[in-house]
Amino acid sequence: MSPPHGPDPLWLVLLSAVGAMAQSPNCPAKCTCQYLGVNCTGQQLQEFPTAIPLDTRQLILATNNISYLPSVELNFLSDLVYLDCRENAISEDLDFAFISLNKLVYLDLSFNNLTRVTWSTFSQLSNLVVLKLSDNPNLAEIEKDSFSNNTGLRHLDVSRTGLTFLDTSTVKELPNLKSLGLSENPWNCNCSFLDFALWMKENGVRFPDPKNISCYSPAALRGWPLPEVESKLHYTCLLHLQETDYAFLGLIGFCIFSAGTVAAWLAGICVVLYEFHTTKGEDDEEEEYEEAIT
Ligand SMILES: *[C@@H]1O[C@H](CO)[C@@H](O)[C@H](O)[C@H]1NC(C)=O
Ligand SMILES: *[C@@H]1O[C@H](CO)[C@@H](O)[C@H](O)[C@H]1NC(C)=O
Ligand SMILES: *[C@@H]1O[C@H](CO)[C@@H](O)[C@H](O)[C@H]1NC(C)=O
Ligand SMILES: *[C@@H]1O[C@H](CO)[C@@H](O)[C@H](O)[C@H]1NC(C)=O
Ligand SMILES: *[C@@H]1O[C@H](CO)[C@@H](O)[C@H](O)[C@H]1NC(C)=O
Ligand SMILES: *[C@@H]1O[C@H](CO)[C@@H](O)[C@H](O)[C@H]1NC(C)=O
Repeated sequence: MSPPHGPDPLWLVLLSAVGAMAQSPNCPAKCTCQYLGVNCTGQQLQEFPTAIPLDTRQLILATNNISYLPSVELNFLSDLVYLDCRENAISEDLDFAFISLNKLVYLDLSFNNLTRVTWSTFSQLSNLVVLKLSDNPNLAEIEKDSFSNNTGLRHLDVSRTGLTFLDTSTVKELPNLKSLGLSENPWNCNCSFLDFALWMKENGVRFPDPKNISCYSPAALRGWPLPEVESKLHYTCLLHLQETDYAFLGLIGFCIFSAGTVAAWLAGICVVLYEFHTTKGEDDEEEEYEEAIT
């Protein structure tokens, strides 16, 4: 009876209903959502996706072209435990990006274009365990106290960045640190680097690839791997005396010499005074004796 042309409208309704169930109403376009996880890997996204469910625990934005993490949208996701932003184009200052993500355990920002990490960038991430910052070729500075509130950190990777220097105090207060990636950075092997290398050795922190940690400057040490550089710097910085050290030693010598002279002089005075006093005492005794006789 019914004309055979065109699909039954009931089918269309059913199909779209099934489609809506598979693609939950709260899932951002181009992403897949399941079990509190949102996966937007490799979708050529230019911007942070909108309409991410607020109870999301795991958010994967890897391999897109996102250049900036909007603070407001991101910080609505306060249950986030796992955030993967690897292989994007993030270059902005991240100082306010993570202010309310204090449950975050895993953060991957590798293969981006970060330039700088400051004390406030990760200061609210007090549960962070894994932090990947590797392969950010323009990352040139990590401020001293950048990880002071991330005491749970176990795995930190800053390999293949533009870092020339990392202050020992940046990682010194991380009692749980087990692995620290430092390879293929243009390290400046001056005496500050020795301090850093010695700390590593003493604290048993593991470098995943120690042979790939080498100096870029000064030119005389270029390409030297860490273990050899450490012993060389040890000699240069701790044993080899600088001109100022000679001046200092000279000054100390002079002080000892002067102190000796003054001490000898004082001792001489004491002896003279003592002798003067005792002879005077004897004279007194003689006088008393004479008085007693007479
Ligand atoms: C996310 O999606 C990508 C590609 O669709 C897939 O390779 C990857 O395994 C997914 N990750 C998770 C944790 O589901
Ligand atoms: C990424 O975005 C930039 C502009 O923001 C564009 O020039 C570039 O082609 C994009 N790359 C990809 C792989 O989409
Ligand atoms: C990275 O950022 C620098 C400026 O900070 C810019 O000059 C450069 O083009 C950026 N690189 C990419 C691949 O976006
Ligand atoms: C350290 O983390 C705690 C908990 O997230 C936060 O309350 C505190 O303000 C943070 N400290 C600093 C210096 O940011
Ligand atoms: C070592 O080099 C870094 C920069 O690469 C510099 O900040 C630091 O002060 C230098 N240390 C010494 C002892 O020269
Ligand atoms: C060390 O660097 C070389 C060349 O850059 C690379 O092929 C190798 O995989 C690296 N080794 C480790 C353990 O990462």
